[in-house]
Amino acid sequence: MLLSPQIPQKNWLRKAMPDFWKVNTMKTEVIKAEKDGDYGIEKAAELLKKGEVVAIPTETVYGLAANAFDEKAVEKIFIAKGRPSDNPLIVHISELSQWSELVESIPENALALAQAFWPGPLTIILKKSSLIPRRTSGGLDTVGVRMPMHPTARAIIRAAGVPLAAPSANNSGKPSTTTAEHCLHDLDGKIPLIIDSGECSVGVESTVITLVTDVPRVLRPGGISVEMLSEVLGEVEVDDAVLNRLAEGAVAASPGMKYKHYSPSAGVSLVKGSFESFRSFVEAQKEKNILALVFEGEGEKLNVPFIEYGRENDGASQAKRLFSALRSIDETDAKLVYARFPEKDGVGLAVLNRLVRAAAFNIIEL
Ligand code: TXA
Ligand code: MG
Repeated sequence: MLLSPQIPQKNWLRKAMPDFWKVNTMKTEVIKAEKDGDYGIEKAAELLKKGEVVAIPTETVYGLAANAFDEKAVEKIFIAKGRPSDNPLIVHISELSQWSELVESIPENALALAQAFWPGPLTIILKKSSLIPRRTSGGLDTVGVRMPMHPTARAIIRAAGVPLAAPSANNSGKPSTTTAEHCLHDLDGKIPLIIDSGECSVGVESTVITLVTDVPRVLRPGGISVEMLSEVLGEVEVDDAVLNRLAEGAVAASPGMKYKHYSPSAGVSLVKGSFESFRSFVEAQKEKNILALVFEGEGEKLNVPFIEYGRENDGASQAKRLFSALRSIDETDAKLVYARFPEKDGVGLAVLNRLVRAAAFNIIEL
């Protein structure tokens, strides 16, 4: 008598821990945007209007979206990802007219950036308006806004009727997701819906630039390169934290910079030098479970296991492959990964920024 029946026990759990119950027992539906047409967009909008979270495709990476004005909805993003609460979310719009109510004011240089690069992979940080809850801005008085280029993302924002707060749709600390399969891997059972639109075309997250500093400053490099930004703005700074470890006790301009990021389970080292020196180096390693992360066509020249991530000197192709390459490391038994060092210019800087973090700033110079 004492321990039966089972059902009341479940009800007790449901009452005591409602959020736990919801987060862990949800069925996650996947709808293909191209195949199922407007159905996915309507279903996503319906859930978003009800204060739910939905994983949506963008041209950069998949985003985990919620109504940016609704603190309770935004809270669900943080819970599903296991994201630290002081890490602000980017707010996504589909129309330029949505921007002005999100920020205190839009200076001329911001407008020039939007005209040049929106819709596209650029997030512009300005002082936030009172409409943006602190939960969305991670407690900061600024907000990053971006108008994505992906037609499905734009259609979902339009149908939801509100700007959408969306970080990358991955478990906090893991590489961002560039396919619906990767979203499902990380978020299955934690969110109600994933809209599948195949592989993201850019592959790394948007460039984040702040205009609240004296000189515009890139906090995170991405698909819009520093060179492209300079053409519009003139002088542009790149934050020290883009390629360097944050000094002990220093305040991160972008809170995301201080957290462990993009890390596979294996230890990663970035190796600087020619392919020939890289080959001699990895082939001389005595450990058994090593893996080489190399450029296209290089793997077959090595006698160690390898994964390839785009063409040498071609940042865009590396960006597109990088996160799925980092994720597939976890499917091998590799304990140590040695990665080829990308070029620093153009989109290469974005690739290097993600790789130095995946490698926890562990760089070997040959
Ligand atoms: O491409 C992208 O930007 C994707 C897609 C979904 O749009 N989103 C994305 O969001 O990458 P998330 O949250 O994973 O990365 C946003 C980064 C974080 O490092 C965060 O700290 C920083 O941007 N960030 C956002 N708002 C900021 C703000 N107001 N001030 C400083 N940094 C900010
Ligand atoms: Mg992220």
